[in-house]
Amino acid sequence: MSKTRLGVLISGGGTNLQAIIDACEAGPLKGRAEVALVIANKPEAYGLERAKKHGIPAICVNRKDFPDAASFTAQLVEELHARQVGLVCLAGYLLKLETAFIAAFRGKIVNIHPALLPKFGGKGMYGRHVHEAVLATGEKESGASLHWVDEDFDHGAVILQRRVPVLPGDTPDTLAKRILPVEHQVYPEAILKVISGK
Ligand code: GRF
Repeated sequence: MSKTRLGVLISGGGTNLQAIIDACEAGPLKGRAEVALVIANKPEAYGLERAKKHGIPAICVNRKDFPDAASFTAQLVEELHARQVGLVCLAGYLLKLETAFIAAFRGKIVNIHPALLPKFGGKGMYGRHVHEAVLATGEKESGASLHWVDEDFDHGAVILQRRVPVLPGDTPDTLAKRILPVEHQVYPEAILKVISGK
């Protein structure tokens, strides 16, 4: 059985990327998937270093280097096609993808979100903002959701979700810290579910 080739898009530290790499090398994705390419939108994204340490091609495609969104998007698509990527994994990628990108990989893009979608998703709901909103509404639980990506923010169907308690005295930071390791479990499991067609 051939391995599914993953293209991982990041903007920052890349701990989810690391979880995916580890799962491909020695975890539930071993023999089933491999990271074929990592793309960051910022040259300083530490995830690029993580990829290189594992001998994985890693590049920066920076919106600033392109005259318009269309040419930027075309480059992203070209890079992923050149590496025969079969599943695009957004892992802390902070740019909204253009319709042309979604169309090029329709039904083949997934994203991790640090809350229980469909709650606390949508425009502006990223990073710390998500956890602030969860705490502000007095939720008793939050979690991690892996979902399909379509044209709208955090809108596609949920593939896998896991719950995490909100504890008294939580701050956005303590809640984020409790959720992040759960994201790291959910991501590889959800990829396995997707590539197994479950
Ligand atoms: C994660 O919390 C993810 O849910 C969110 O951005 C964060 C990325 O963290 N979309 P990392 O770069 O994978 O460490």
